Amino acid sequence: MTKLFTPTRLGRLSLRNRIVMAPMTRSRAGRQDEPTETMAVYYGQRASAGLIVSEGIYPSPAGKGYCRTPGLVTPEQVAGWRRVTDAVHAAGGTIVAQLMHCGRIAHADNKASDAETVAPSAIQAHGEMYTDRAGMQPFATPRALRSDEIPGVVAEYGQATERAYEAGFDGVELHGTSGYLPAQFLSTGTNHREDRYGGPAPSRARFALEALEAMAAVDGADRVGLRICPGNPFNDLSDDDPEETFRVLLSEVRGLGLAYCHVIRLHGVALDNVALAAECFGGALIVNDGYGLEEATEVVERGGAAAVSFARSFIANPDLVRRFELGAELARFDPKTLYTPGPEGYTDYPALAEG
Ligand SMILES: Cc1cc2nc3c(=O)[nH]c(=O)nc-3n(C[C@H](O)[C@H](O)[C@H](O)COP(=O)(O)O)c2cc1C
Repeated sequence: MTKLFTPTRLGRLSLRNRIVMAPMTRSRAGRQDEPTETMAVYYGQRASAGLIVSEGIYPSPAGKGYCRTPGLVTPEQVAGWRRVTDAVHAAGGTIVAQLMHCGRIAHADNKASDAETVAPSAIQAHGEMYTDRAGMQPFATPRALRSDEIPGVVAEYGQATERAYEAGFDGVELHGTSGYLPAQFLSTGTNHREDRYGGPAPSRARFALEALEAMAAVDGADRVGLRICPGNPFNDLSDDDPEETFRVLLSEVRGLGLAYCHVIRLHGVALDNVALAAECFGGALIVNDGYGLEEATEVVERGGAAAVSFARSFIANPDLVRRFELGAELARFDPKTLYTPGPEGYTDYPALAEG
């Protein structure tokens, strides 16, 4: 048996194999942004993964960006997530909550009427996002956070972590890429601050580091992961020197003793994100983006990563692990139902027949 199918530990997390389900926003939350029974079914169907990283979850109402995305704020949301974690645990799986504060990647129509859109600087992202009310709309212009407000935003990550544990999650992951709040602080294009959270790389890295410290303070760093993609241009993100930025961030994060770093590689660029993370983070890596069975087997076998995460392959293949074991063909997903409400294109992809 190849190493990909063998158990491992990442900090305090026990994985029964090294095939991780990557976080995927699917916009199926209920009316109060609570996880529904259908979401519990969806995650339970995929629990044979060694680890599931949940879809991005907002830690505070201001952190919501997209329509029908779930939160970890209210008792109803905690109760909804409890259904999800129970379903995953009943099937023998492990699941962490991805905390995703969208910052400026938001639209007022997608969040509560009293929830603001905030960011390191008042710079609107170029581009549009979907709203249920009016279709595609330009991104909001954010309000720049005052220096004295930032500790409160950092503390929200700690509070959301407490609720994640109350809801039965095995750990938490900080979403540190894709143009959302921690990435907005890290990057020169979105962070024009002149206080201790802006300017040189150690100052731009401060917010992400403090958010991780707040998450680790709840019940240890060995239940906490960090997701990164140095140089990622998604959601109008730009940084003058992503290599330097992430060298600084990861060198500081290294001392925390996190469970893992979840690193997304970039294709067609000089910067090798996996090599950078291996060198500067030093701990266990989950690698991602565009892996198939063969390449995943190879990278785990030679010790280049502790585990590999798969996003799109899990959409139409709830039993991805078994299909990999059998060398079975993978089903394709329907892109039209990625973000539509309801079970269609969500919980109706069948597992392979037994036998
Ligand atoms: C429908 C969809 C939703 C996604 N939502 C998230 C998310 O909430 N958080 C996140 O970190 N990445 C998100 N991603 C990115 C994936 O986790 C992953 O990095 C990407 O799809 C590449 O992996 P793959 O080649 O295995 O699909 C999403 C991807 C897809 C396809």
